[in-house]
Amino acid sequence: MNQTLELMLSHRSIRKFTDQTVSEESVKQIIKAAQSAATSSFLQAYSIIDVRKPELRSKLKILCGDQEYVETAPLFLVFCGDVHRTKVVCDNEANKIGKNGLTTYESGWTETFIIATVDAALAGQNAMLAAESLGLGGVFIGGIRNNAQEVSDLLELPEEVYPIFGICLGYPAQDPLVKERLPESIVYSIDKYQALDEQALQAYDQRISDYYVQRTRGKMNDTWSHSISKKFASEKREHMLGFLQKRGFLKK
Ligand SMILES: Cc1cc2nc3c(=O)[nH]c(=O)nc-3n(C[C@H](O)[C@H](O)[C@H](O)COP(=O)(O)O)c2cc1C
Repeated sequence: MNQTLELMLSHRSIRKFTDQTVSEESVKQIIKAAQSAATSSFLQAYSIIDVRKPELRSKLKILCGDQEYVETAPLFLVFCGDVHRTKVVCDNEANKIGKNGLTTYESGWTETFIIATVDAALAGQNAMLAAESLGLGGVFIGGIRNNAQEVSDLLELPEEVYPIFGICLGYPAQDPLVKERLPESIVYSIDKYQALDEQALQAYDQRISDYYVQRTRGKMNDTWSHSISKKFASEKREHMLGFLQKRGFLKK
């Protein structure tokens, strides 16, 4: 196996960090790697906010569901879907003398929202992998959407920009086991969709339950199926559609 694959296969979220700071050079490399991800139609429809002010971090920690590491991680990057920039650029072009043939930017298309979300996600995963290649570890923070409006106000996001996830990064102060993913036979098929292989799922559920027992020294023994059904019962973020529409997304 090559080093890139080894790095990818050894991913696990890190939620405890040493006090060692992340150098500016590493930050630049991580951002560069994030920007190198493929991007739909070359739109680059995302922005990354590196939150450094301690008072912003402590507010974000609370807004993200009281997750300690949002405040304490050496680095906290917020990835936003951003078509505000797209709109400014299109409006500029449309206003240029001699370019009046261009259609002005139209807000609110669902497709635009998908583009921005996918772009940000690809950039985020590249950032995580780059960080891991530098010996850092980290965790994505979807909790940033728990209070999406308050986060947007705090970070002064304009219309048509929305926070998708954060990433905490730093030098690992823990060494958790890698979490085994679903069997390939469940997520991968050739030529047509394959119905869920219940037997493979049962065996996977048992292995994940064993993993949790080992990781929590017996305090938790959830199966994968049970853990995801708990998640869907408790965390729906019902505010998201209204929030996104208010910001100019998902109107048509
Ligand atoms: C978009 C996204 C949002 C996430 N949000 C959180 C979060 O708010 N808090 C947290 O502790 N972990 C969060 N995670 C981490 C997942 O729980 C973790 O990746 C998953 O359990 C698999 O574990 P692993 O990363 O250790 O392999 C998030 C992951 C992703 C991709």
